[in-house]
Amino acid sequence: MIRQFPGFPNVRLVSHPLIQQKLTTARKKTTKNREFRQLLNEIAGLMVYELTSDSPTRQVEVETPLQRTNGVELASEIILVPILRAGLGMTNGVLQLVPQARVGHIGLYRDEETLQPVTYYHKLPPNMDEAEVMVIDPMLATGGSITAAVTAIKQTGARRIKMMCLVAAPEGMKRMLDDHADVVVYTAAVDERLNERGYILPGLGDAGDRLFGTE
Ligand code: PRP
Ligand code: URA
Repeated sequence: MIRQFPGFPNVRLVSHPLIQQKLTTARKKTTKNREFRQLLNEIAGLMVYELTSDSPTRQVEVETPLQRTNGVELASEIILVPILRAGLGMTNGVLQLVPQARVGHIGLYRDEETLQPVTYYHKLPPNMDEAEVMVIDPMLATGGSITAAVTAIKQTGARRIKMMCLVAAPEGMKRMLDDHADVVVYTAAVDERLNERGYILPGLGDAGDRLFGTE
């Protein structure tokens, strides 16, 4: 259900049928905000299962009502970093499965003319260097936003960083390979290309606007 995307050693395509079905519904232009939000959170919950499949664990002892036994727990803390706004649309879905995670926020928007990311907010928790960090953004288009976010996250000393996205364009995947090849990008789809306004084709439109009803 998960495979490396050819030519991109840092990209993993998550192709579980449930994820693909939900993504197909999210792409439809007739899907309204409420359902779109629900779908993105559901997909995120399914994807986090794959993102954590290689997370290190350690043995712990627990006491059942009858006796002591061995169990496991995650060896590292997980920190989520949604990129505002659209990353928020997947965060609750991840938190349902990883409720203990702390959450940092990075606020970025793309300048509509230059397509360059403009940063307006940063709030990251302490001890990022010891944690497994998941950056969350449904759209990887030119790659400008995620590259800027990962650069900021690395300045905290964090080194174990993964990205969760929904739809990736080859242009953004190439940018991540050039700038942050150590960050594995998990995506539910690799689309064809960007249009002249930097939107992913076929894509799903403006994810932030569709989530929050600002279109
Ligand atoms: C979208 C999306 C990404 C970015 C991707 O955010 O959520 O953050 O564009 O594009 P890029 O790869 O070319 O940088 P947007 O700038 O529309 O802001 P929003 O989430 O507040 O709507
Ligand atoms: N951001 C979006 O929300 N959608 C795109 O297609 C590209 C960037």
